[in-house]
Amino acid sequence: MKNFLSIECSCREEIEGLVESATRLKAARAAGDFTLRPLEGQCWGMMFSKSSTRTRVSFEVGIGELGGTAMFFSSRDLQLGRGEPIRDTARVLGRMIHGAVIRNDSQAEIEEFAEYSRIPTINALTELEHPCQIVADLMTIRERIGGWEKKKIVFVGDGDCNVARSWIWAAKHLGFELVIAGPGDFCPAADYLAAVDAPNVSCVHDPVEASAGAHVLYTDVWVSMGMEDEAARREEVFSGYQVNTGLLAVADPNAIVMHCLPAYRGKEITEEVLEAHAETIFSEAENRLHAQKAIMVSIATG
Ligand code: CP
Ligand code: NVA
Repeated sequence: MKNFLSIECSCREEIEGLVESATRLKAARAAGDFTLRPLEGQCWGMMFSKSSTRTRVSFEVGIGELGGTAMFFSSRDLQLGRGEPIRDTARVLGRMIHGAVIRNDSQAEIEEFAEYSRIPTINALTELEHPCQIVADLMTIRERIGGWEKKKIVFVGDGDCNVARSWIWAAKHLGFELVIAGPGDFCPAADYLAAVDAPNVSCVHDPVEASAGAHVLYTDVWVSMGMEDEAARREEVFSGYQVNTGLLAVADPNAIVMHCLPAYRGKEITEEVLEAHAETIFSEAENRLHAQKAIMVSIATG
């Protein structure tokens, strides 16, 4: 694996391999074993033009645990923020650092960075995908309910956001049933779904109907970063798409609740449900560290 830019461009073997590796790395860390250091002597750059708690911290910790050094740049730090083209930034950094982790609003830009820098490049969230999140989520599903095979995963809320799109591609590659429960304007477009061509992915507007028999109820914020101008409209449109005890009542009795976080209690999830499922949700957050270490180990060891 050279880059990790999307779940779309990944495949079943790669995703399964990452989940396996992340699970081993988690066990090694718990045992105090930090001997695997494939980034020894390497410096990785992290370019984030959007806020982050989990992704930033887990990458910085992970790079360090694998023997490397992390340099963090917000959009204010680089000349990129003053209009230097991404391809020039890429050609400069590609001669100085060994890998890049990028969070921005443009999948096209991170693909351009990967092409021009010629160094390993990882998508830490774009407008189109959040692939690292999905590796951690799959790992969490395997830990909690044994795997995703023959499971029904229901994404409740903004079915057209980056996290939902990565879920759609994960379902395409892995074959589990994925139901997107979102309002009409916030479901993936019919031509997008047609291009994905996954009969195991469907969109349902009624969240109760969608959640029937679900093994996983998953949600994300109603207002993604960069969408703040639409907050009032979104809060109105999404008001019926809350993960609450009503949805859990129709889900599988052993259903788990997941949230990529940050969570807005009383909006996409109730306080009661979040706290009842906190062990899953915060393990999911912790698993970002193990999943991203697995991605970097895979890149560094070819
Ligand atoms: N889930 C996630 O990516 O969280 P951060 O935005 O805090 O990195
Ligand atoms: N869809 C959210 C994910 C945050 C981790 C966003 O883009 O803000």
